Amino acid sequence: MALLQLDAVGKRFGQVVVAENVSLTVEAGALVGVVGPNGAGKTTLFGIVSGDVRPDKGRVLFDGRVVNRLGAAARCRLGIGRTYQVPRPFGGMTVYENVLLAAQHGAGLRGRDSLDRAADALERAQLVAVANRPAETLGLLQRKRLEMARALATRPRLLLLDEVAGGLTDPEVAELTGIVQSVQAEGVAIVWIEHVVRALVACVDRLVCLAGGGIVADGEAHAVLADPAVREVYLGADIETPTVGSEAPA
Ligand SMILES: Nc1ncnc2c1ncn2[C@@H]1O[C@H](COP(=O)(O)OP(=O)(O)O)[C@@H](O)[C@H]1O
Ligand SMILES: [Mg+2]
Repeated sequence: MALLQLDAVGKRFGQVVVAENVSLTVEAGALVGVVGPNGAGKTTLFGIVSGDVRPDKGRVLFDGRVVNRLGAAARCRLGIGRTYQVPRPFGGMTVYENVLLAAQHGAGLRGRDSLDRAADALERAQLVAVANRPAETLGLLQRKRLEMARALATRPRLLLLDEVAGGLTDPEVAELTGIVQSVQAEGVAIVWIEHVVRALVACVDRLVCLAGGGIVADGEAHAVLADPAVREVYLGADIETPTVGSEAPA
């Protein structure tokens, strides 16, 4: 049984169709990359999974259970964790306090358990050295890591990463990819939306391309990037094509 299953999900904002009949499964422990042009509906799809966005139709199943009626907090307790495209740490709190709050309110842990969980998440996101700094003083890479640490502190079985590598340098991207892989190695399923395609190609089991509210391609990363339908949606756009064919988009 798949850990996550989207079954014919539909969503529109006014006239804009952001998801039309989207069906998708993610197996336990899998690392799935998601690409697609701006406005394709990627972040909205995460919202539909995490409970931040209510779909107009279709079902969301987590671990075999329909979760449509559950809010974001309840889904978080079930094991669905996410990061946000624009990092939004709580200001006026240290890095540690931000992560502790996630362990307490996201995972529902108390006392010693919450402290241990927060410390573990900080370590995995490589933030121990800045744990006592005010969160608002962090640079971009560390803010992205803090997003991950907060999500990890909620003890996810499914982790949704929304463009955590954007704006980072190559070595920083490599560092972040290493963290993602170590999280997967612990058995957490990950869905990673990312414009930095080379980061995905380096580590995903599978790549999904979303465009125009639907799934354009789904499969092995190189095959998906070489798919003419995928090339088509990126014409004139900014996809990075490190490993595929010669017909680079204009
Ligand atoms: N809360 C909202 N209300 C109205 N329109 C929205 C809302 N959220 C997203 N949209 C629109 O839905 C489309 C898809 O957005 P999004 O899911 O953020 O795409 P992506 O993450 O692929 O760039 C865009 O046209 C965006 O403007
Ligand atoms: Mg987005």
